[in-house]
Amino acid sequence: MPARKPKKQTHALWGGRFSSGPHPALEAVNRSIDVDFRLWPFDIALSKAWARALVGARVLKRAEGATMRRGLDRVGRRIAGGAKPIRSDEDVHTLIDRLLHDEIGEVASRLHTGRSRNDQVATASRLLTMDALDRVLAGVRDLQKVYVARASGLTDAIMPAYTHMQRAQPVTGAHWMLAHFWALERDRVRLAAARRSAGVMPLGSGAVAGSAFRVNRPRLARELGFHSISANSIDAVGDRDFMLDALFAISGVALHLSRLAEDLILYGSSEFGFVRFGDAFSTGSSMMPQKRNPDALELARSSPARMGGNLFALLATIKGTPSGYNKDFQDDKRPLFDAIDAMLLLLPAVAGTVRTLKFNRKRMRDAVSGSMMATDLADSLVRSRVTFRDAHSAVGSLVREAENAGVDIGSLPDSSFRAAHPLFGKRARRELEPERSLANREIPGGTGARAVAVQLANAKRSLRVR
Ligand code: ARG
Repeated sequence: MPARKPKKQTHALWGGRFSSGPHPALEAVNRSIDVDFRLWPFDIALSKAWARALVGARVLKRAEGATMRRGLDRVGRRIAGGAKPIRSDEDVHTLIDRLLHDEIGEVASRLHTGRSRNDQVATASRLLTMDALDRVLAGVRDLQKVYVARASGLTDAIMPAYTHMQRAQPVTGAHWMLAHFWALERDRVRLAAARRSAGVMPLGSGAVAGSAFRVNRPRLARELGFHSISANSIDAVGDRDFMLDALFAISGVALHLSRLAEDLILYGSSEFGFVRFGDAFSTGSSMMPQKRNPDALELARSSPARMGGNLFALLATIKGTPSGYNKDFQDDKRPLFDAIDAMLLLLPAVAGTVRTLKFNRKRMRDAVSGSMMATDLADSLVRSRVTFRDAHSAVGSLVREAENAGVDIGSLPDSSFRAAHPLFGKRARRELEPERSLANREIPGGTGARAVAVQLANAKRSLRVR
């Protein structure tokens, strides 16, 4: 390999102390612009705020600050207009610095006073994370609205609820749909908490010991939309916890989408036939003309693997790094950006899939078999002061008898009921009506019609307040 390249007149933010430029292999491995390019709007915003703060600290003359801010706006317009990085742009900060020199000349060299890419990249990454979490939050909220709308149309649809994927007890379609709503509600709490954890401003920490110029940090934080400033400069440049929080919160959304997806993939199969996927959200098969595939849901089902991988990649990147900034942290962005991108693609696709589902109420209702009301039958004995243990055993014998005879429990003769328990009278069979089972569950959080109406109203309210 050739030795270090002779020093060229490229635009670098460092290099004065070396006799030659970096080896191409080092340059190549060090470059992060392909990944961190998307930080540019945030880097420009923080640079503009920094320029103003430097004026406040009397490092820059007022006119210099104004020139810098105008120049940064022009740089922003150039990048938005398609200006591309060049080979010597190590990262997004170098790119913006180079373009700023292009725009306003030598005065640009004063911008990097009292700051380091260490506090800069931490600040820009936090701004991006807050912005991304806002968009994920909006996407989750949109999906919740779809759930609420679908639940509203299913308040009188009866279907089985499953445990261990075995038919368990009847519920309304609305109750099932809202189960997924509340999972997303918890996600929104976590996403909002992650946003808050990103809202602490590192700028002013310099490389590690704090800036030597007394810029007004609280003011800088307010200007940039942070709720507070970091307490310790060493911690500030080495802290990526906010990214972990964001990745964990996004992983939670992925988990919940995957569970909804699995429900719907099953319900959409011919075996269940509870739902049919809308044309615009189904894909065909290149070979089998009859296919109607729920691809978006399958990708939702796979997404926790990707999100979890990203979360773990960052955990492992941070582990064992010494305090302060380390170049290891440059690898923080790929997992974060990947999780954000994937989630922002997924949310509208899942929302569209759910919005365009067609529910088959008859199939849902037909899947509710008599034995699913076995608990209700036992409960009716308990109301006549039988212990639940004895009631459970009495109904168990009925279930066994029906199973052996290959009939539904409701088709057994009265004599079987009386034999199972003397307190089973003429009206015992009524307990096997799913409507009655639902009506018995008006407990808050239960599947009774009034309880679900309250639940639906609470769901709508939480969309208004958060
Ligand atoms: N590209 C770097 C990163 O993403 C910016 C910070 C570089 N700091 C440094 N001292 N080399 O982490």
